[in-house]
Amino acid sequence: MAIRNILTSEDPVLRKTSRPVTNFDKRLHILLDDMADTLREAAGAGLAAPQVGVLRRVCIVDLGDDDGLTELVNPEIVSAEGRQEGREGCLSVPGVAAVVARPERVTVRARDRRGNEFTTTGEGLRARAYCHEIDHLDGKLYTEDVIRYLTEEEMAEGGEE
Ligand code: NI
Repeated sequence: MAIRNILTSEDPVLRKTSRPVTNFDKRLHILLDDMADTLREAAGAGLAAPQVGVLRRVCIVDLGDDDGLTELVNPEIVSAEGRQEGREGCLSVPGVAAVVARPERVTVRARDRRGNEFTTTGEGLRARAYCHEIDHLDGKLYTEDVIRYLTEEEMAEGGEE
C-alpha cells in the first residue's frame, strides 16, 4: 500500500479517455489499495485512476457514511433521474469549489476487484460522486460544467462535499 501522487488539472493525462480493465489481477488490487490510501491521506470523497496517472476505468468513492469505500471497475451509468445542484470539488483542482448540476439519482453497473458484476444506486451526494468520478474516466473535469464558483467565504463555511 502506498500513497500516489495526485495529478492536477493542467496535466494532459486528466483529459484522456481511460481504457477498460481486462485483468482483475494483483496489479489492479494494488492500484485500488493505493488509491484508497491516497484518498484517505487527501481527505477526499472520491478518486479516479487517471488522477494518479493510470488510464484505466477504475474509481473509488468514500463519503464517510455507513457504505464505506465503494470500488467501481469499468463503471457505466445505466440510468439517471432528476436533477440536483450542489457543491463539488476535486482533488485535482485544489483550492476551489463550485456549484454543479447532476442527476439526483443514478444507477451504475460496474465490476468489483474480482471481476464480478454488480449494480449500485446512489442518490444526492452519492449520485454526484458517481457522476464526478466516472467523468474522470472520460477525461472530463467538473470545471467544464460549473454553474458558479464558490466564494472564499462560502468555502470557509464548509458544507457537504
Ligand atoms: Ni475529481
